[in-house]
Amino acid sequence: MNPDQNKAPLFAALTQYSAKNYAYLHLPAHRQGKALAELLSPGGKNLLHLDLTELPGLDDLYYPQGAIAEAQDLAAALYKADQSFFLVNGTSGGIQALILSLCRPGDKLLLPRNCHRAVLGGLILSGAEPVYLPPVISWEFGFATGVAPEDLARTLNEHQDCYGLLLVHPTYYGVGGDLARLTTLTHQENKPVLVDEAHGAHFPFHPALPPDALSAGADAVVQSMHKLGGSLTQSSLLHLKGRRLTSSRLSDSLRLLQTSSPSYLLLASLDVARRQMALHGRELLSQALEIAFQARDELSKIPGLKIFGAENLDYQGACFFDPTRIVISVKQWGLTGYQTAKILTSAYRVQVEMTDYYNLVAVVSLGSTREDAQALVKGLSEIWQKWANINPPLPDVPLFPPPVPVRLTPRKAWFAPNRLVSLKESAGLVSAQEITLSPPGVPLLFPGEEITIEMRDYLDQLKKIDIPVKGFTGSHKDRLRVIKN
Ligand SMILES: Cc1ncc(COP(=O)(O)O)c(C=O)c1O
Repeated sequence: MNPDQNKAPLFAALTQYSAKNYAYLHLPAHRQGKALAELLSPGGKNLLHLDLTELPGLDDLYYPQGAIAEAQDLAAALYKADQSFFLVNGTSGGIQALILSLCRPGDKLLLPRNCHRAVLGGLILSGAEPVYLPPVISWEFGFATGVAPEDLARTLNEHQDCYGLLLVHPTYYGVGGDLARLTTLTHQENKPVLVDEAHGAHFPFHPALPPDALSAGADAVVQSMHKLGGSLTQSSLLHLKGRRLTSSRLSDSLRLLQTSSPSYLLLASLDVARRQMALHGRELLSQALEIAFQARDELSKIPGLKIFGAENLDYQGACFFDPTRIVISVKQWGLTGYQTAKILTSAYRVQVEMTDYYNLVAVVSLGSTREDAQALVKGLSEIWQKWANINPPLPDVPLFPPPVPVRLTPRKAWFAPNRLVSLKESAGLVSAQEITLSPPGVPLLFPGEEITIEMRDYLDQLKKIDIPVKGFTGSHKDRLRVIKN
């Protein structure tokens, strides 16, 4: 039977979802236009009037000389960069372009093992050899944080031929390490520091937020302006500072990776969000911080909940945290983060940004309201009374992958002949693909890494307790691609 072409299932799902008016504690920060009001009806017309292309006077993202160049210069001045680039394929595209502009096949790049999967495209395209740094773990909350300076110093010494360092600042949990110290150590070896600041586009605009990566000395920074700066989803900023990276090589890489038909809606939203941050960032963020601090205070009174805060910043990987990001451990409730979020959505109409086995991550941002935060507090108080105080605490589960040897670069693994095997028979073989924990989008296994017995058993255990591990195929979702011997 032919499918019914009267249907538009995605459009229908979006309009139905939007009609439910959930309490909004997630990204993007503009909160369905509330904090991007200027773009709702520009000049009294609907937004689609601006869905134009490279017409006279509208410049060209590939070779900007007019309005786009001026808008990028304003972004650079605001973020104190030497040069800024508008991106239409998110921070993912920016990270890939940076790696491609820095590394050739076989060049070593240092990066934390808990980096986002966005790096994978850059590693495959460039042929770079990843050298992974171990992140410091918050055992109390069960997530990975930043890199310890002593681990970086040792790795820089062991890999003096590396071409640079890529860091994540902050992590999806809003936690950052000592970026200034890490940058100094890397610069002492005259290597560049690239920073994935996907979750930090708002940092420069309020003193209660962590220091931003450019002010900590980074050479290149990519920010998802769409996540926390108020622009439309997919729009990001890439900033360069200093002379360790070559701007023309980066422009070439961006032209390779980005569409030749960039959306002017995305580009205009970057321009307007930048202006909003410049003129009203401090005041909007003060409001968000006030809402977040009040919610933190009330949540911390609910029995059994633990909220990540300043008192948890006592070790090397965690020197800063973003207080607008409320990380709530429900471990003592005997419910997983996934179960708690499901109840919050279905019974209390509250959507948070991310969940893992032990935690919920709620984001209070530019467009957040007191009602959103109150709905979260009310929902969690009632869940405690109805569901949570009757269970024993969750058992400890192995949340972090055991380190595995890198046998091939991701690029070589990507192009090598491969075959499908079951997870059971994969021990001792080399993965041809990524296996990713998503959310937060962190690869547990990169292409080219050996699937040790410990890694096989670890993945098996995660699957058994329903942790969302992505990348397996087959009807039982238990098969993966390995390199043919
Ligand atoms: C830490 C981190 N880096 C990079 C990205 C990719 O950013 P984008 O969605 O803007 O491509 C994400 C997305 O969630 C992320 O969490």
